[in-house]
Amino acid sequence: MYAIQLKDLNAYCDVHSHSEDPFLKELERQTYLQTIAPQMISGRIQGRFLSLISKLKRPRYILEIGTFTGYSALCLAEGLTDDGKLHTIEISDDFDHIRDQYAMQSPVAKKIVWHKGDAATLIPDMNYSWDIVFMDAAKNQYIAYLDLLEKNMKPGSLLIADNVLWYGKVLEEKKDEETRILDLFNKRLKNSTDWDTQIFPLRDGISISMKK
Ligand SMILES: C[S@@+](CC[C@H](N)C(=O)[O-])C[C@H]1O[C@@H](n2cnc3c(N)ncnc32)[C@H](O)[C@@H]1O
Repeated sequence: MYAIQLKDLNAYCDVHSHSEDPFLKELERQTYLQTIAPQMISGRIQGRFLSLISKLKRPRYILEIGTFTGYSALCLAEGLTDDGKLHTIEISDDFDHIRDQYAMQSPVAKKIVWHKGDAATLIPDMNYSWDIVFMDAAKNQYIAYLDLLEKNMKPGSLLIADNVLWYGKVLEEKKDEETRILDLFNKRLKNSTDWDTQIFPLRDGISISMKK
């Protein structure tokens, strides 16, 4: 019963909200047609959420960890200043053809710098003061990413972390390794005096933390 209501409410939200860019619609469609784990994409509602946060913040430098087909990168790039850049990191080559054919068509793609490799290896060489970081890659690396990035984030900078409820598994007594790290990551942000954190139960959890 609740599942049906949720589906209907999602449809109502779509009808009563502004549409995303047509490039994004096609990118999402092609991601579902051409990849084996399309649910990794942020998708329409989370994409609009990221876009609005970025437009409110007006960042100059954004770091995204986990590009996939480029959907959330395009959404976040919508809020960049005129001279702003979004740097995004992806370890796999498997999605490059979708990114090149669809994401690159968007007018905001020219503000994106696409990096290939393991995020934990590349981040230390990226010397920017990040206004927004969007963490959306290996879940067992979230604490390692935080350790690497904290020093490059100033008061007012936003750390957005996806999947922090990990399909509800954070509530399980016996946690697998990814869930254990995500739970520790959530606790570390909540217990730190350096961050102001809120977890939102959107999809499987997205948290926004502002550096104090
Ligand atoms: C959930 S998807 C990202 C979705 C994308 N942010 C979006 O919303 O459309 C996670 C991506 O992180 C990539 N990834 C996994 N481990 C990584 C690592 N160590 N370094 C960089 N990227 C990684 C995966 O290949 C995958 O494409």
